Amino acid sequence: MPVTVTVVDHPLIADALTRVRDRDTPNTLFRQELERVGKLLLADATRHLPTRVVEVTTPLETTSGRVLDTQPVVIPILRAGLGLVHAAQELMPAADIGFIGMSRDEETFQPKPYVNKLPESLADRVCFVLDPMLATGGSLAATCRLLLEKGAPGPIIVVCVLAAPEGIERLRSEGLDLLLYTASIDRHLNDSAFIVPGLGDAGDRQFGTG
Ligand code: PRP
Repeated sequence: MPVTVTVVDHPLIADALTRVRDRDTPNTLFRQELERVGKLLLADATRHLPTRVVEVTTPLETTSGRVLDTQPVVIPILRAGLGLVHAAQELMPAADIGFIGMSRDEETFQPKPYVNKLPESLADRVCFVLDPMLATGGSLAATCRLLLEKGAPGPIIVVCVLAAPEGIERLRSEGLDLLLYTASIDRHLNDSAFIVPGLGDAGDRQFGTG
């Protein structure tokens, strides 16, 4: 099963991403710019959502329009994915929101799940997973497995601000069916499994914690 990667090339994304990367960007601005990148990525990632034709009556006449056929489910990976939820809700106000909490062990780099709050069934629902960073891919792969257990159909749509080649490779090797939208595939992971050049730790930079 394929992992299809789209690097969204857009001047507004490039502009916001540069401030997101900058170590001197304060937390408040970091959150704003991360959300901007997220909204622009989501605009692309939602391009193929299924719609159905409906009648709509304007003040002048009746014509046809299109509405979303089903409401998607948006799943941020806590904590850092929370910074992209507002952008998703602005674009898809009726979407359901599920929560997966994953923290990465700083020595083994293995993901540890600590929250799992999803709709009862994900069958027939388009799922959007939000996480600013795809590093080793462990957190995302574990999250996707939880979604598949709930019947999520493929492809799962993933929005990551930055992705490492190692993480993309891992998702491919695990045979996941994903459409990945990112602002950049960075160079590599360092010895601490941080994305280089990267943006540091998206959770800490949003919430001011270590
Ligand atoms: C970071 C990041 C991703 C994950 C990526 O989260 O936000 O969720 O690591 O790493 P991986 O691809 O190697 O799994 P972290 O564990 O630091 O938790 P946080 O979001 O609470 O800061």
